[in-house]
Amino acid sequence: MANTILVGAQWGDEGKGKIIDVLTGNADVVVRSQGGNNAGHTVIHGGKKFVLHLIPSGILRARKICVIGNGVVIDPIALVREIDVLRGLGVKAGKNLLISDCAHLVLPYHRALDEQRELRKGHVKIGTTKRGIGPAYGDKAARTGLRIADLMQPELFSKKLNAKMRENNSILKALGAKPISFAKVNADFLDAGERLKPFVANTVVYLHEALKAGKEILFEGAQGTFLDIDHGTYPYVTSSNTTAGGACTGSGVPPHRMDRVLGVMKAYTTRVGEGSLPTEDAELADMLHEMGREFGATTGRARRCGWFDAVATHYATMINGIDEIAITNLDGLDTVDPIKVCVGYKLDGKKLEVPPSDSAQLTRCEPVYEELPGWKRSTERVRKVSDLPKEARDYVNKIAEWTGARLTIISVGPSRGQTLIL
Ligand code: GDP
Ligand code: IMO
Ligand code: MG
Repeated sequence: MANTILVGAQWGDEGKGKIIDVLTGNADVVVRSQGGNNAGHTVIHGGKKFVLHLIPSGILRARKICVIGNGVVIDPIALVREIDVLRGLGVKAGKNLLISDCAHLVLPYHRALDEQRELRKGHVKIGTTKRGIGPAYGDKAARTGLRIADLMQPELFSKKLNAKMRENNSILKALGAKPISFAKVNADFLDAGERLKPFVANTVVYLHEALKAGKEILFEGAQGTFLDIDHGTYPYVTSSNTTAGGACTGSGVPPHRMDRVLGVMKAYTTRVGEGSLPTEDAELADMLHEMGREFGATTGRARRCGWFDAVATHYATMINGIDEIAITNLDGLDTVDPIKVCVGYKLDGKKLEVPPSDSAQLTRCEPVYEELPGWKRSTERVRKVSDLPKEARDYVNKIAEWTGARLTIISVGPSRGQTLIL
């Protein structure tokens, strides 16, 4: 039985949702352990498009259990909405979904503060999803957050909420923003709490029982390695540990029970929001956008695009302990020739093999490229690795070699069937 941590090896949106959907066929339980509804994981299933934000992508498969772990920050209103949307599309969301009672809540003042802080930063803003993620994790670290367990106790919740709202409304007023009505938030949250009650559990206990019963667990990472609060391009990052360790702390499953780390990466690079992207290329971005690709699944923003950055993915392999890699969106390069890959950075005349820790230095890095020939043929209908054009096979093998892990999955389209398993 293999328990797998799936992580994004770039800046998010690597196609994690699609790969989770493929892997869930062989798993019993799918767990989200960090992030919140800043995530947008796309799965094409039965001809329909689903975008999951808080609920693990495994929900689309019958008889799989999905867990929202303690490390996730939950906006209960958004979660209830997501459950309703899924049910409206014919997806079961009942006993197959568990929510940790230790998960922290995202409240309307978190969203308002996120927005105000971004506004005040002006041109040095982070470019957040404005879902309140940073302020919610801030409260968690400051030990002043409210949790799902509080929401399950209406009287206690209202009391705690009242105190928090008084404090946050004074901050919002000082920032020139409108205060938020306690009565409305209280009523909306208690309603949402009632709706979520049947799902709430001690998920740590559940997961350990599942382990004892020999069940296979898949940990669905959100965001990507370079958005990690510790290892990413700080301060242009999110507020959780998006790297492999986050799966342990955010679920209560210990490191020695993890068997495999799978890094998901696009055949090129994208980023949404501010911060450096060393291989950014406007022409490549225009081409992908003209194909209707690379628009954010959560905010609809056009993603910035660049060439594959093997310095970044090699570093991601170190941090996460990536054993295996899945390369997605290979078909995005079907018409490109030649294809560039970044194999080093140059900073002040010196060649670097790992990204510098300082964002300002990273911005000054110049990529050192190698060029590989393109295949100039559609790969969307290819179902066997041996049927890929030789140049495409050489390309994926080269980027796996530079990244330093074993290539096990290649994706040539958004649907489950458009997947080559090695
Ligand atoms: P996630 O956040 O990592 O789950 O990725 P997103 O869902 O935000 O973005 C990935 C996008 O690429 C989505 O629109 C997917 O449907 C799409 N996608 C995933 N894999 C492939 C692929 O191999 N080819 C194509 N054309 N699209 C893909
Ligand atoms: P998935 O799981 C891509 C980015 C935002 C911003 C930064 C901080 O779909 O890969 P936040 O709202 O978290 O405070 O924003 O992180 N970001 C993502 N970028 N994919 C995501 O999730 C992201 N979640 C956050 O654009 O740059
Ligand atoms: Mg996404």
